[in-house]
Amino acid sequence: MRRPFARALTAPLAALAAAVALPLTSSPPAVADEGVIGGRPVRVADSPWAVALASRDRFGGTRAGQFCGGVVVARSTVLTAAHCLSEDVLGAPRGEVRDLKVIAGRSDLRADDGAEIDVRDAWINPDYDGYTNSGDVAVLTLATPLPGGFVIPMANDGDAAYEAGTGAAVYGWGDTTGTGDYARTLHAARVQVLPDAVCEEAYPGSSDGRYLPSSMLCAGEPDGGKDACQGDSGGPLVAQGRLIGLVSWGSGCGRAGSPGVYTRVSDVLRVLRQHS
Ligand code: ARG
Repeated sequence: MRRPFARALTAPLAALAAAVALPLTSSPPAVADEGVIGGRPVRVADSPWAVALASRDRFGGTRAGQFCGGVVVARSTVLTAAHCLSEDVLGAPRGEVRDLKVIAGRSDLRADDGAEIDVRDAWINPDYDGYTNSGDVAVLTLATPLPGGFVIPMANDGDAAYEAGTGAAVYGWGDTTGTGDYARTLHAARVQVLPDAVCEEAYPGSSDGRYLPSSMLCAGEPDGGKDACQGDSGGPLVAQGRLIGLVSWGSGCGRAGSPGVYTRVSDVLRVLRQHS
């Protein structure tokens, strides 16, 4: 049964913004030793909040239709990138994508473990700016809730996990080489939170985007080599057991001097409060 995606705010979204003021209980942090570009395979059981966004209709069945990542922040709520639901990415208006699913608890996209859950509702940040890429977040409401152990807490503004030099891990099923080698299993790469100045210098404004520190987070390795890449968008950047970023954009993948740019989760919380 098709339900048009809502454009207005939904009750679950308001509840989410309210809930994040309180500490969420969650499973203990599970950060990969290494980690995607320069990453390594990880068990989804150790990072159950990392989910795949999929549409077999749009992307074919070989990798279960995976095209973006997402992260479970409440039992029925998954965050992803706004640009993942753009017509550019989907190749069709999102209202026409009838089989949008969240795949949870499955590392290998060729397997059939875990669950494929229908997306009941999608809220795309109306302030997402496709020029700078700021505000790159969407909120998906699941038709069926996941167990509480899938949920990862979000790091509020002022959380030490946002400090430059913090070790973090990025998760996804995206390109592992930068040449279109999409992963069949979940990978993670270890990166560090980089000073805003590094991304401000790398991305002063071009067709790729413009780094805005209030809504974005800079992460990678000074010499490159470890990064998110195409297909990882919307997926989690995790530090100290908390969600700090969503994979958003970058110039190439893993290039020295071109770090990964993430949607800053503390700004996502601000956006959710503002819209509830
Ligand atoms: N926009 C890409 C996607 O849709 C993610 C790019 C991330 N790039 C990077 N170098 N960190 O999957």
